[in-house]
Amino acid sequence: MVEARRSARSFLPEPIPESVLTACFDVAIRAPSSHNLEIWRFLDVRNAETRAALNHLCLDQPQAQQAANLIVAVARPDLWRLGAERMLARLRADAREGAADADYRVWLPRLKKKYELMVPLLFADGPLHVLAPAKAALLWAIGQFRPMMRGPIGRSEQQMWAVKTTALACENFMLALVAAGYDSCPLEGFDEPKVKRLFALPSEARVVMVIAAGRRGPHALIPQIRHERGFYVERV
Ligand SMILES: Cc1cc2nc3c(=O)[nH]c(=O)nc-3n(C[C@H](O)[C@H](O)[C@H](O)COP(=O)(O)O)c2cc1C
Repeated sequence: MVEARRSARSFLPEPIPESVLTACFDVAIRAPSSHNLEIWRFLDVRNAETRAALNHLCLDQPQAQQAANLIVAVARPDLWRLGAERMLARLRADAREGAADADYRVWLPRLKKKYELMVPLLFADGPLHVLAPAKAALLWAIGQFRPMMRGPIGRSEQQMWAVKTTALACENFMLALVAAGYDSCPLEGFDEPKVKRLFALPSEARVVMVIAAGRRGPHALIPQIRHERGFYVERV
């Protein structure tokens, strides 16, 4: 699948069955997510007017115009608290019902503490991130004495944090499409502020990529150029 995945530059006007798309989203959200906070969101654009507007904001790239589906992958660092609340609700319910798995019973109290205490301590930095500089200074001071996780603190670090996790889910999604016999093209050729406005996304959100998905059309591929592994992998 990894080798079969290619960025398709043309698509046939063939729809992707709903069951296939649903299965691909299920695979997408199987991706690892930092602290399991699942701050990814996928907008599967179906409204014809919105789609036309999005095509244009994707700079009218033919692959965006032709693809059966355009999926906007959004990183939402601002939703970390919702992710933590969902985790806590699940952990509390599992604790009440008594987890059958022995390993899970050992982990449950630690996990609850993580979402009750550690995650809020790590991510909360006040309205408009006003406490970020003070938090960074405190962590820097502690970090002089022992290795210390320094973030993500502040708006841009939290955005970068959320983008990492969302990008992993995007790759899962594209690989799942290949497994189902479909293709994709990840796009960053789009006007992000306007895409955010189109979907009324909050200022903290980042549009990680738009994924054009469908069945590849004629002349869809350019050669897959990769350079020597030695350029990128170092034994240190
Ligand atoms: C984040 C990201 C953004 C990309 N944006 C575009 C894009 O806007 N238009 C496009 O034609 N290809 C885009 N690509 C596809 C790359 O050009 C492509 O992955 C690369 O040429 C390697 O080809 P392959 O994916 O077929 O292996 C993007 C890829 C990534 C990972």
